[in-house]
Amino acid sequence: PFGLQRLVDSHLREHLSKKPVKNENAAHDAFSTSTSGRSILTDRGFYEHEEPSTQSIIAEGIVRRRSLEMRNKQQYWHESMEGQKMQEFRRSLPSFKERDALLNLISRNQVVVVSGETGCGKTTQLPQYILESEIEAVRGAACSIICTQPRRISAMSVSERVAAERGEKIGESVGYKVRLEGMKGRDTRLLFCTTGILLRRLLVDRNLKGVTHVIVDEIHERGMNEDFLLIVLKDLLPRRPELRLILMSATLNAELFSSYFDGAPTIHIPGFTHPVRSHFLENILEKTGYRLTPYNQIDNYGQDKMWKMQKQTLRKRKTQIASVVEEALMTADYRDYGPRARESLSCWNPDSIGFNLIEHVLCHISRNERPGAVLVFMTGWDDINTLKDQLQAHPLLGDPSKVLLLACHGSMASAEQKLIFDKPEDGVRKIVLATNMAETSITINDVVFVVDCGKAKETSYDALNNTPCLLPSWISKASARQRRGRAGRVQPGECYHLYPRCVHDAFADYQLPELLRTPLQSLCLQIKSLQLGSISDFLSKALQSPEPLSVQNAIDYLKMIGALDENENLTVLGHNLSMLPVEPKLGKMLIFGSIFNCLDPIMTIVAGLSVRDPFLMPFDKKDLAESAKAQFSARDFSDHLALVRAFEGWKNAEREQNGYEYCWRNFLSAQTLKAIDSLKKQFFHLLKDSGLVENVERCNTWSRDEHLIRAVICAGLFPGICSVVNKEKSISLKTMEDGSVLLHSNSVNAQEARIPFPWLLFNEKIKVNSVFLRDSTGVSDSVVLLFGGKVSRGGLDGHMKMLGGYLEFFMNPELAGTYHCIKRELDELIQKK
Ligand code: CDP
Ligand code: MG
Repeated sequence: PFGLQRLVDSHLREHLSKKPVKNENAAHDAFSTSTSGRSILTDRGFYEHEEPSTQSIIAEGIVRRRSLEMRNKQQYWHESMEGQKMQEFRRSLPSFKERDALLNLISRNQVVVVSGETGCGKTTQLPQYILESEIEAVRGAACSIICTQPRRISAMSVSERVAAERGEKIGESVGYKVRLEGMKGRDTRLLFCTTGILLRRLLVDRNLKGVTHVIVDEIHERGMNEDFLLIVLKDLLPRRPELRLILMSATLNAELFSSYFDGAPTIHIPGFTHPVRSHFLENILEKTGYRLTPYNQIDNYGQDKMWKMQKQTLRKRKTQIASVVEEALMTADYRDYGPRARESLSCWNPDSIGFNLIEHVLCHISRNERPGAVLVFMTGWDDINTLKDQLQAHPLLGDPSKVLLLACHGSMASAEQKLIFDKPEDGVRKIVLATNMAETSITINDVVFVVDCGKAKETSYDALNNTPCLLPSWISKASARQRRGRAGRVQPGECYHLYPRCVHDAFADYQLPELLRTPLQSLCLQIKSLQLGSISDFLSKALQSPEPLSVQNAIDYLKMIGALDENENLTVLGHNLSMLPVEPKLGKMLIFGSIFNCLDPIMTIVAGLSVRDPFLMPFDKKDLAESAKAQFSARDFSDHLALVRAFEGWKNAEREQNGYEYCWRNFLSAQTLKAIDSLKKQFFHLLKDSGLVENVERCNTWSRDEHLIRAVICAGLFPGICSVVNKEKSISLKTMEDGSVLLHSNSVNAQEARIPFPWLLFNEKIKVNSVFLRDSTGVSDSVVLLFGGKVSRGGLDGHMKMLGGYLEFFMNPELAGTYHCIKRELDELIQKK
């Protein structure tokens, strides 16, 4: 019955065969960094008529001339006053002593592993040493160094810093490239980019033509992209014997990486940090006179269903937890309590103890401690914003003009980032609320106090139930050490760990590599589009291979959505999906949105789902916020359509210059809406470049057709679907994997007494105690049938069970008639297109 899929495939195939060249070039343009090769290509226009041998001589001449220019410029900077001052600072960094040893090792080995304490100068210095030495050897214009960063903000801030150290602006010899932004020019020879960007480049340029050095930074974090990149690079090295690979890590476990690359040499940069005193919860309570009252704080979360659940569980375990905490706090030998405490404290969440403890510690520091910036590690963006609001006018924090409160997380604006690194005026205390990204990749120099809540949001993946979870979980000992170390940059520091020592002792030594705890769908798609062979074989070559079950789940998923065929080969849809910088399901939505000419609302939804929810839900005004959101839903049972309406309303308000007022009134984040807007523009360009859309009018012919939009959402989100049964007093929701699920209280559907749709589609479910659906859109049977993707052979049984009505549906002549009718219309639509 899934002729639709075939039609979409054939549509895509046709368009692909029409525009293969443009497609590749567009992608190459977007991701290329080898400006040396490119500039010669451009110059070649002028001497194309010459003999090939003459051409190459001219090309060499150009490279040499540019290299000489670069050397002169560098010498000039090093001799200038400012340049000398900068050189002086750079020489004071621990890595400077190892400069020659590092360069020597790199020149003689294809792979080198470098470790050194955060702040010793790995990221900013080492790539620069290579660049400088190439420039000094008059090879500057021929070199191309790529240094990957796990996060966009570090790629941006580091490139800015390095450019400043070289007396330049970004985009001259130093540049950066991250998903939505980039600054690089013709002469850029050192590019900081996110790991994802390098992986995308490998898609169109398998041998990294023209690249001389690849530096993979922060490998100790064991991010999925980094682990993946290492497998690809390991494969590439024999084909590119002159390519140099440098791995950089903040911790000492370099052996793992060294042995992965057949005993590559390692070098450690000895660093100096000032001693940092640790205070665990028990000392903090004593020192500050704070009384621990974990349970009543949970009331802060008011109506929130999710927290109510947790609260109930907590109540049940209250006695148990209280006794273990108290016992542990009172006993001298905490170690005995380690495992027990860890187990019992697993739902003792520093966040749910409330922000009061954090607030309390911050006030204590403000009033009683010496000057120095404070860095607070929290779990996520929401918490950071909420706490920031609460602190803004906190009476005990002292004179508000003497406190500089800043948030630091992956998606903040660039202007805000700069403030974090700047030293505030005398007498002003800088307080930075950060996620765990401040652990290793960025360095705030003037931090003297660290407050560590002990948790980080970590994606984990339950392969058995095929359910991704994003939960704050305890950090590792290595992370706790890193966080503590942030306090000792300039002088002896203090670290406040907001958990008992016994909990710390029970932490794992290192965090589990991301590859082992996330769904692998995007990764598997990438393996296929990079033509790296069988997915399982490829992943078995990883530093630590993921479980076969997780791999199989991902392959099954990709088959189900039609990205892979039965033999695990990439389909045309799969090929198109791999070119889009979003998860496969969101990519599929974009592609369907273009084919069915309802692109704009679909782009809004996809951008919203890949940035974050623009609806704000402040705890103290939750009711108001919820009713504001409900207005956008207009009772059509869709969070996704509500998002579209909110966004469009904002665009209109922006046109009349009152965007902020609109956001304020409707509990929307202007910053998020702006991010969505700019992401949409990116999507449009990508789709246009790849030939999937022609012009704005055409691809929006059906943008007002709400039914079609639901159908396209279904094409993307399926099999993220749950069945709806309206009972007398409640609504029963079930998914195939989890059984009963609940709606997150922020969803517009959570307030409804009845949902007049047999199915709800969702993008995200999370497991707390129960499984909650964050967002949902109601759809009809026929939509699920037509747009719900292919049923893979293995999944057939479960599928049938899940879509219980399937067979019945076909038995029912009336419904079957409707189905054929819709299908005919759709077929015509596609044919016309
Ligand atoms: O990569 P690693 O942690 O080893 O250090 P880095 O990021 O290269 O930073 C080296 C030093 O440069 C830091 O200790 C800071 O003093 C300084 N730095 C800075 O002043 N501003 C930045 N945006 C980055 C680094
Ligand atoms: Mg670094």
